[in-house]
Amino acid sequence: MQNPMDNQHYTDDVVRHFAIMAVVWGVVGMLVGLLIASQLAWPEMNLGVPWLSFGRLRPLHTNAVIFAFGGCTLFACSYYVVQRTGQTRLFAPKLAAFTFWGWQAVILSAAITLPLGITTAKEYAELEWPIDLLIAVVWVCYAIVFFGTIGIRRVRHIYVANWFFGAFILAVAILHIVNSAEIPVSFWKSYSAYAGVQDAMVQWWYGHNAVGFFLTAGFLGIMYYFIPKQAERPVYSYRLSIVHFWALIFTYMWAGPHHLHYTALPDWTQSLGMVFSLILLAPSWGGMINGIMTLSGAWHKLRDDPVLRFLIVSLSFYGMSTFEGPMMAIKTVNALSHYTDWTIGHVHSGALGWVGLVSMGAIYFLIPKLFGQKTMHSVPAIELHFWSATVGIVLYIAAMWIAGVMQGLMWRAMNEDGTLTYTFVEGVKATYPYYVIRVIGGALYLFGMLVMLWNVLMTVNKGKAATVVIPSLKSGAQYV
Ligand code: HEM
Ligand code: HEM
Repeated sequence: MQNPMDNQHYTDDVVRHFAIMAVVWGVVGMLVGLLIASQLAWPEMNLGVPWLSFGRLRPLHTNAVIFAFGGCTLFACSYYVVQRTGQTRLFAPKLAAFTFWGWQAVILSAAITLPLGITTAKEYAELEWPIDLLIAVVWVCYAIVFFGTIGIRRVRHIYVANWFFGAFILAVAILHIVNSAEIPVSFWKSYSAYAGVQDAMVQWWYGHNAVGFFLTAGFLGIMYYFIPKQAERPVYSYRLSIVHFWALIFTYMWAGPHHLHYTALPDWTQSLGMVFSLILLAPSWGGMINGIMTLSGAWHKLRDDPVLRFLIVSLSFYGMSTFEGPMMAIKTVNALSHYTDWTIGHVHSGALGWVGLVSMGAIYFLIPKLFGQKTMHSVPAIELHFWSATVGIVLYIAAMWIAGVMQGLMWRAMNEDGTLTYTFVEGVKATYPYYVIRVIGGALYLFGMLVMLWNVLMTVNKGKAATVVIPSLKSGAQYV
């Protein structure tokens, strides 16, 4: 028989599941990251086993950290936030549970097929067509649950975090479906429906907007809810948050061609991508300023609240990578940075600094609440995590920046007679020390993640799944 209270509390089981799996997949994805970083320094570490080779593990790393770690964080946070800001339970809780199991199935399929070498060879869209279909089904269900919950909200206003989550869900659906159009030739092999330069353009329209909507808009939704909550302050400027939203989602869509500078793509398209990338600096920094300034009058909280520190420092990395990105989109700068480790440095200042830290802050916020505890099992362990992650990021990105600029300069250096000053191998040898520094930085970052896993498991063990009654229903009113 259905418990009459069922309708009166938030649907948090699915949030709990996603939050815990985010941490588990974070550890797995970063472990693979550390392994491939070590392989770049010491190639023998592939042990001569094909499924341990760099080419197969690299996409496993990117898929695991972006879609498993990042994806589970986004599911958990969006489901949590849309209920709290709408004062309602989730629409279709069973469908929400299906999105959890469906998404885990996608992740497991990726973890099996990628090391086996089954791939479409399109970056960030490597999974073959049967998995693509599953992703599309899960994503449509996600959209139904999310927008359905917006539809049954008990608060008239739709809080800005939900706009970002909504845009992320819609955009990712469109990007995935359009970019995955492919013709299957067998169960595990397909060919893209597009050819030549059109294929490249569609792929980088997808690839760039995967950054823009998966790694940015969704996490900005997290930022807009969790920073004000943790700081106990309203958003600095609500008006700015709305300008931020429309400017960001409009501009991102056009910037993809900066991934294809100096290719067969028509020149005007490349220039258009560059100009939109430069414009993108404004909304990006508008959002960062809005988040950081939310702390106005409460800066002292940073001193003794490590969770808030995760959230605020993530925004400084967001600011850094969204300044660096537009600079790298300038064609003359890209002529130096493209193909070098500078790009990898940029990626990880965004990925480790922004996506990683904001996710960790949000999960540290969520776990105690979801398991009926006041705080995490160990607050000093959160401090330890914060410092090991921050030092790890700085080592990683500084090493890649130096290596990248050095590579770019060595590759283009010419003697007076027009011959190259350095052979390629000289460039590789000069990069070696920086690859070792990256391994150290990555190990520190992973260490922090392991501390987090321990802290989460201890908190979960101590507590029990909390049932939170929807405040507006406390008076005994029935859910409508
Ligand atoms: C312990 C932490 C990590 C380590 C050691 C690590 C290491 C690496 C390495 C070695 C590569 C390949 C670089 C190359 O091909 O030259 C890579 C690529 C990549 N990683 Fe990580 N990574 C870590 C965490 C993360 C996280 C948390 C994210 C995202 C949230 C991420 C996103 C990416 C992306 C998107 C690429 C592809 C970059 C490109 O194609 O330009 N990584 N990572
Ligand atoms: C205003 C914002 C940004 C702009 C204009 C921008 C621009 C760029 C440019 C020009 C590249 C190099 C393309 C190449 O030479 O191949 C790049 C690569 C990349 N950026 Fe950004 N970026 C921005 C923000 C971010 C953020 C916040 C993240 C991560 C969270 C990120 C993740 C990446 C990734 C993963 C790549 C590597 C793509 C690949 O080749 O696999 N970017 N970005």
